[in-house]
Amino acid sequence: MTALLEIAGLQAGYGETRVLFDVNLMIMPGEVVTLMGRNGMGKTTTIRSLMGLLRPTAGTVRINGADLTGKPAYTVAQAGLGLVPEGRQIFPTLSVEENLVATAANRAGGIPRWTLSSVYDFFPRLNERRGNLGNQLSGGEQQMLAIGRALMTNPNLLILDEATEGLAPIIRAEIWACLKNLKQSGQSILIVDKTVSALEKLADRHVVLEKGVTVWSGNSSELVADPSLKERYLGA
Ligand SMILES: Nc1ncnc2c1ncn2[C@@H]1O[C@H](COP(=O)(O)OP(=O)(O)O)[C@@H](O)[C@H]1O
Ligand SMILES: [Mg+2]
Repeated sequence: MTALLEIAGLQAGYGETRVLFDVNLMIMPGEVVTLMGRNGMGKTTTIRSLMGLLRPTAGTVRINGADLTGKPAYTVAQAGLGLVPEGRQIFPTLSVEENLVATAANRAGGIPRWTLSSVYDFFPRLNERRGNLGNQLSGGEQQMLAIGRALMTNPNLLILDEATEGLAPIIRAEIWACLKNLKQSGQSILIVDKTVSALEKLADRHVVLEKGVTVWSGNSSELVADPSLKERYLGA
């Protein structure tokens, strides 16, 4: 089976500053994989590099076997990557509904799973708030909107960068439940987050970054079996 996403030997940085030295990560269709590591280790830089927002200086990014290394962001998006960016980045002066349709697409092909009505069924709260502006929503509602907006592109791979950051525990739990639901429906997901306890249950495999290098990868039982990993790499 061809990997949905394969990142190998990835290097990237900002100007003269090298941030990624050797990032390796693979996601098979239907898998939920995490990218973990302390602050500043290069998780968001990895996401930017794979989305075509930052040009890698070495290594490869393959999506469904096609080499998309260094291709522009719109080409990568068309290949079916849907990003829920760090900080949510919803459009503050557009309504909930306008946010959802602004970047909608049918990238997976066939009959689209995600339409306005299926997103509203999945997030009833967004339906209630459909006429409100982005900046009138609570943090949790904004996060759901950011996820709904990414789903509206019908992505092959949904990518979430710190989706639970800054949210109350009860709202975080809602986000985890929503991701579990998506996983059960077969959605492939890449999750960047620091909530190891939730990720151990939700995800199939984990990749740990330290200073721009993939230092560990394994499945959930291997992660649970090695508590020293958390101390060494996750600040837990
Ligand atoms: N736009 C930028 N310009 C210069 N350096 C940056 C930029 N964004 C991030 N960095 C640096 O790159 C390193 C990795 O950052 P980042 O990928 O955001 O880490 P993480 O997402 O794991 O917290 C950090 O040292 C950070 O200061
Ligand atoms: Mg980050």
